[in-house]
Amino acid sequence: LDNGLMKTPPMGWLAWERYRCDIDCDNDPKNCISEVLFRDMADRLYEDGWRELGYVYINIDDCWALKKRDAQGRLQADPKRFPRGIPNLARYVHDRGLKLGIYGDLGTYTCAGYPGTTLDTIEIDAQTFAKWGIDMLKLDGCYSNATDQEQGYPLMSKALNATGRPIGYSCSWPAYQGGLPPKVNYTLLGEICNLWRNYGDIEDSWESILNILDWFTEHQDILQPAAGPGQWNDPDMLVIGDFGLSMEQSRSQMALWAIMAAPLFMSNDLRTLNSGARAILQNKVAIAINQDPLGIQGRRLIKESYGIEVFWRPLSNKASALMFFSRRTDMPYRYKTSLKVLDYTPGSYKVYDVFMEKRISSLKDTTEFVVSINPSGVVMWYVAPAADRPKFRHV
Ligand code: DGJ
Repeated sequence: LDNGLMKTPPMGWLAWERYRCDIDCDNDPKNCISEVLFRDMADRLYEDGWRELGYVYINIDDCWALKKRDAQGRLQADPKRFPRGIPNLARYVHDRGLKLGIYGDLGTYTCAGYPGTTLDTIEIDAQTFAKWGIDMLKLDGCYSNATDQEQGYPLMSKALNATGRPIGYSCSWPAYQGGLPPKVNYTLLGEICNLWRNYGDIEDSWESILNILDWFTEHQDILQPAAGPGQWNDPDMLVIGDFGLSMEQSRSQMALWAIMAAPLFMSNDLRTLNSGARAILQNKVAIAINQDPLGIQGRRLIKESYGIEVFWRPLSNKASALMFFSRRTDMPYRYKTSLKVLDYTPGSYKVYDVFMEKRISSLKDTTEFVVSINPSGVVMWYVAPAADRPKFRHV
């Protein structure tokens, strides 16, 4: 969507995967969906260096609203859990240089049973969000049919634009239509949405990541060309720092999401994050790969029968990212290859290992090398042409 927003994949924090529909603030005051949670996370994004790295969105998901619209037909936040109201929360977030996202559902109800946005309330909801100072809307698709979605998603895009406030627009539409043509029109999505969920929800497990990865790579010929500045495929949240992934698997999610040019929305507890997870999520080169201004989504180049895969993403300045991934469950696998085999043009390259955080001696395209890839882990490289020899020397 050409609204000037999200020229690189959006980054931030989103409540859903970790906090779901926990509305029991009496018994679980620190983790329930309330302004306390979002203020806490805003504080962390602001104070712990996340914001400077690009993690600027703080996004509310389902279960924030009252079950009834107000007398004027507007959505309203649950006053018990958001006593100061959403505009106040937006101010709090903006004062810290962050942006506030909210959630709606194009249908009669949200997935968790809160009021939905039907065709006749699209305009009023867009106006309400803009008035509140909202910066991003995720529009889910529960309790609606294909026809409503076909009308509603483009209508909301128009309605948001008509508010005059820049609001990033995340569409769950394709996820509700199987994610593939002919039901899903990626050209149209690119015109009306900044990002879109293509596939099912992520869970806090390695199986879930593999399942998402398999779907995205299987259909990469369709998905890869759909992405670009202002329009991104969304394989769903980062679950790094939660309970289901090992350190290797956490690195793998970060690397895969970077290669896929995926939005980076963490869904974790930034108040208690361990240092390992923090280091992965704050890895500057992994983030730079994800945020490359060309905005070309990467692809899987090689799938070896024995569980090793190679991914590649072209980057600006003739650089690229290479990722060696292991699905094996035995021991570190020593994978032997060369840049030439991986289709690099003849020449010399300098290589930086993203997670080892160190330079590797330069490689010629023909040089054979071995990478040792841990089970369910990755080796990710940033590869750039070695500096051309200066053509003129001043003597
Ligand atoms: C389905 C979406 O895909 C999830 O990300 C989350 O927003 C839930 N609905 C909320 O009910």
